[in-house]
Amino acid sequence: MTRLGVLVSGNGSNLQALIDATATGVIPGQIAVVISNVPGVRALQRAEAAGIAAIALSHKQYASRRQFDAAVVEELRRYDVEWVVFAGFMRLVTPVLIDAFENRIINIHPSLLPAFPGVDAGRQALEYGVKVTGCTVHLVTQDMDSGPIIAQTPVVVEDDDTVDSLMQRMHAAEHETLVRVVQGVCEGRLAVERANARPKVSMRKR
Ligand code: GAR
Repeated sequence: MTRLGVLVSGNGSNLQALIDATATGVIPGQIAVVISNVPGVRALQRAEAAGIAAIALSHKQYASRRQFDAAVVEELRRYDVEWVVFAGFMRLVTPVLIDAFENRIINIHPSLLPAFPGVDAGRQALEYGVKVTGCTVHLVTQDMDSGPIIAQTPVVVEDDDTVDSLMQRMHAAEHETLVRVVQGVCEGRLAVERANARPKVSMRKR
């Protein structure tokens, strides 16, 4: 079974979807460790409640991003992690982490990238006035929120949406999309093909 490391910073609803899907066997993988850069968050409690190793590594304890990333890599290696999932992990990462797990890190983002990268993607979508937004799962490369796209799911914006109501539907779409992609990863169906600097990714059907 594929050993997964999940990086989080907050509530952990996407983590919970992964916990549930590994528990039921929908994802043929095992979450070996959950690491948060913010101590005390709900995501760590969710991991503990599921009997998964839960580690808080406060980024504030490290002099640089690279040093923080080195500490994360050390923990991921200690738990023999093969694939890394950023599930609401709100940190920019350096080559220290990216190169250690080259083309084996995926991120979920609450917009149809390349629209609305960064923080508060739901608010950005509402302020821009798009009628359709959605979520994206992509490979993590050097540039924030811009690695090769693996899957996207649209979410229709309603006229009376608030950030909260939009994000509620967004989370439902995220959970389904992330579980589907991680399932494919653990079933060995994600093909990563190096083409120039930007790898091409595709998910084979079951
Ligand atoms: C999710 O909406 C995720 O897409 C977003 O943070 C939220 C975490 O929710 N990530 C980003 O914005 C990354 N740029 P969760 O903690 O309930 O899973």
